Amino acid sequence: MKTPGAFYKPLAIGAPDPFRERPVSLERMIHFVPPHIDKMRAKVPDLIANVDVVLGNLEDAIPADAKTDARRGFIEMARENDFGSTGLWTRVNCLNSPWFLDDLLEIVPAVGSKLDVVMLPKVEGDWDIHYLDQLLAQLEARAGLARPIMIHAILETAEGVKNVEQIAAASPRMHGMSLGPADLAASRGMKTTRVGGGHPDYAVLEDASGAEGRRAFQQDLWHYTIAKMVDACLAYGLKPFYGPFGDFSDPEACESQFRNAFLMGCLGAWSLHPKQIDIAKKVFSPDPDEVAFARKILEAMPDGTGAVMIDGKMQDDATWKQAKVIVDLARLVSSKDKELAAVYGL
Ligand code: GLV
Ligand code: MG
Repeated sequence: MKTPGAFYKPLAIGAPDPFRERPVSLERMIHFVPPHIDKMRAKVPDLIANVDVVLGNLEDAIPADAKTDARRGFIEMARENDFGSTGLWTRVNCLNSPWFLDDLLEIVPAVGSKLDVVMLPKVEGDWDIHYLDQLLAQLEARAGLARPIMIHAILETAEGVKNVEQIAAASPRMHGMSLGPADLAASRGMKTTRVGGGHPDYAVLEDASGAEGRRAFQQDLWHYTIAKMVDACLAYGLKPFYGPFGDFSDPEACESQFRNAFLMGCLGAWSLHPKQIDIAKKVFSPDPDEVAFARKILEAMPDGTGAVMIDGKMQDDATWKQAKVIVDLARLVSSKDKELAAVYGL
């Protein structure tokens, strides 16, 4: 363990100081773009206005013979667009792949000043974060960058889940984590063939006592992992995210998976298809009725202490804090989304 002073020192001479307070930004959806496809890159200017984060994907789903084109395509799309308050991220290839090193060596010098976050797949432990942390510091120093690039880990191996707290604590460069249900299912030996979502056979059967036609109640396969990730992230001031939902033909199930994650503390999810952008916007922007009720709580308890009754429900310091989470998020959403700002009355 590093001493607290050393924890916040730049890891290379000339690298920018690590953030002590992480930047506040709205990240309801991390929208994946395959940057080797010209038609997809051409859509980036429209996407910037419509999503919170644009991510150039270099890892899984990019064929091996397109890896170099994807990296070049990402550099081109980063150079050619002004992202404004929309985040620019890339998902690089994993550490043991033949492409990771060049992903970093080419992207940081070329467009590092525009890059907010590097998403690192298949993180197994804090050693993976330490390596990328050091490499980024060296590259930032060489490129003369003024602002550190953050790291977002994908939680998608059994070992990563086991080490989730150490990963969260590894560096002030940590931005957050996403659940990667597809790789995690494979790593754990789960008997599924899906990218996220539930499974009809993962259910609890109603008691046999006398009931005719016993009902089965489907359970959430990801509950345990999301809970573990949320606790690790929030304990270290990081942001937790649900990752991909692969069944584009089932928007209801996607919405339900996103909503469970939102209610449990996640701040966003990946959008792999344009249809999922609006689902994420709907789910990860707080519900207007909840915002109105939360504002009532804050107004009724101006200093956040004591107890009051509102609409028959007891409120105290703890519900005041919950209300503040919701109203703070609504304010953040309102800073980008003027339509919702009007609905919230903020
Ligand atoms: C995402 O990368 C996943 O494996 O689910
Ligand atoms: Mg994966």
